[in-house]
Amino acid sequence: MEVLKLVNICKSFGGVSALNGVSLSVKKGEIYGIIGPNGAGKTTLFNVATASVRPDSGNVVVNDEDITGLPPHAVTKRGMARTFQNIRLFNRMTLQENVMVGMHCRTGSGVLRSVLRTSGQRSEEREAKIRAMELLDFVGLSKYFGKKAGILSYGQQRKLEIARALATSASILLLDEPVAGMNESETEDVYHLLTAIAYRGITIVLIEHDMGLVMNLCGRVAVLDFGELIAAGTPSEIKVHPLVIEAYLGSERG
Ligand SMILES: Nc1ncnc2c1ncn2[C@@H]1O[C@H](COP(=O)(O)OP(=O)(O)O)[C@@H](O)[C@H]1O
Ligand SMILES: [Mg+2]
Repeated sequence: MEVLKLVNICKSFGGVSALNGVSLSVKKGEIYGIIGPNGAGKTTLFNVATASVRPDSGNVVVNDEDITGLPPHAVTKRGMARTFQNIRLFNRMTLQENVMVGMHCRTGSGVLRSVLRTSGQRSEEREAKIRAMELLDFVGLSKYFGKKAGILSYGQQRKLEIARALATSASILLLDEPVAGMNESETEDVYHLLTAIAYRGITIVLIEHDMGLVMNLCGRVAVLDFGELIAAGTPSEIKVHPLVIEAYLGSERG
């Protein structure tokens, strides 16, 4: 069953065509890779999928529902969550608080509201804290739960972003370069983490430059170049695809 379909997506910024008729579909439970040189349109595709950028044309379909044009929170509600290429955490909030930001139904922060909190709200908050701890444990960060996010290493911040995305109870996770800036052992940690997430039935779409990770982890891979989908298939098909080889050699020369 296809859980995410991007149909004929076009998006230009001024004169630049960031996406030119890109279509792809992702099946439930798969780990789907998106690769391509810098500027190919990968992040824009995520922005369109999660409604932070509106496409000029084309459709975003989640679980057979056309969600094109809906606001970002409606996308979250339908089970899609993402991480960012440029990490977006609240550095002065604790890890636990950062994860709780991802959860639905956060209690309001007004003074009156906190004075008048019902026992129901208090237990909801306790539940949220416990759930945040479980998620931090899952990504391997529980020992830092009360520390500020700003003290974490780059690699740890990326894991915290994954925990926050999971906190939305997402069934589809879009990860924008999850191992960028990580060393080999951190990358291996993320490999195991993503495997564990997929094992739980969560669908993963992954933008990544680390070819080893993409080839080992992804069942299928799409390749973008200058806003066009130039190839899609299994990792072994992609590796020998002439257009893909050309795109990568071209970008190395350039
Ligand atoms: N908000 C924006 N405003 C103007 N240009 C943008 C914007 N977002 C992306 N672009 C342009 O669209 C193209 C694709 O960018 P992007 O999707 O970030 O590529 P990738 O993630 O593959 O590196 C680039 O030329 C980039 O400069
Ligand atoms: Mg990008």
